[in-house]
Amino acid sequence: MEKQQKTIGILTSGGDAPGMNAAVRAVVRTALYKNMRVIGIRRGYSGLLARDMVEMNLRSVCDTLHRGGTILYSARCPEFREDKGVERGREVCTEIGIDGLVVIGGDGSFRGARDLSLKGVPCIGIPGTIDNDIACCDYTVGFDTAVNTVMDMVDKLRDTSQSHDRCSIVEVMGRHCGDIALHAGIACGALAILVPEVPFSIDAIVQKMQRTLRTGKKHFIIMVAEGVTSVNGIGTVYDIAREIQERTGVESRATVLGHVQRGGAPTARERVLASEMGYHAVELLEQGIGNRVVVSHDNKIVDYDILEALNMKKEFNKHLYDIADVISI
Ligand code: ADP
Ligand code: F6P
Repeated sequence: MEKQQKTIGILTSGGDAPGMNAAVRAVVRTALYKNMRVIGIRRGYSGLLARDMVEMNLRSVCDTLHRGGTILYSARCPEFREDKGVERGREVCTEIGIDGLVVIGGDGSFRGARDLSLKGVPCIGIPGTIDNDIACCDYTVGFDTAVNTVMDMVDKLRDTSQSHDRCSIVEVMGRHCGDIALHAGIACGALAILVPEVPFSIDAIVQKMQRTLRTGKKHFIIMVAEGVTSVNGIGTVYDIAREIQERTGVESRATVLGHVQRGGAPTARERVLASEMGYHAVELLEQGIGNRVVVSHDNKIVDYDILEALNMKKEFNKHLYDIADVISI
């Protein structure tokens, strides 16, 4: 009997990330290669509920691989956090004839994907978030590009800090995860890297800075993950800058890099990772498999049950953190 042609949907959800377009492109091209139809759903789950969608063909994703952002737009959809919202999503999928869905987003989006899978619409998550906060995934789509963006910007900051013998305190994104700060901190030679995963003290930073001043170093970079400033009662990066200046005598300036970290052309590594994940996601849907998240693990692309993945505890790379502390004096 003729195998019925599958139709899959694809959407991007939550905070956007460079590389999402590469994943979308791989999903569309792989699905069309496997003789499936592909429905692009705009603006995440909101678009699903609003039926804001378009059939995609080979040309729909041309000239997108190198672009940041997401051609399918992204959004947050509070309604989908309720069962009735997910039920409406299921109804739309049934109505349109969507046999499976690829959801590119973070942990929140994966919860929606799991809820929809449990209602009978097989969903596959692809971790698209700069935060790198998906425990079972070594590198999420967006992380490598964000780290390189931070590195480029902090290298510029270093120029002016060096010219004025100053200390630059830089706040980076990551929500509650310190990976962007850790990796960019090492890449930029930060004197100190403040992350939510490791308690720290201003005293220790001041003492390290004074020790380093005595060796003749006169300008400094301190990297601060945004998740730090909401704990430890440390206040903002502006408060940290003021305290460091008062206690060391080194002129200090705070810089919040903000949403530039979410944009930019994805790196080569990002494009390859996203393409592999997109291909793997379609292979799963082709077999009727859902409720899985595709991840990079030990340099391989594998998949986990969504709830199992979300329940895993992310291990912070304390060894890398300690290396950074040693080599940054
Ligand atoms: P991210 O996917 O980057 O973590 P959010 O946490 O904002 O971003 O989640 C994106 C969307 O996923 C939300 O707007 C909502 O539609 C859906 N979502 C988030 N959490 C849940 C949940 N617990 N159950 C169902 N859907 C959820
Ligand atoms: O989850 C990605 C992220 O960029 C976080 O690092 C950051 O805290 C958050 O999104 C910002 O959210 P919004 O784009 O809604 O301001």
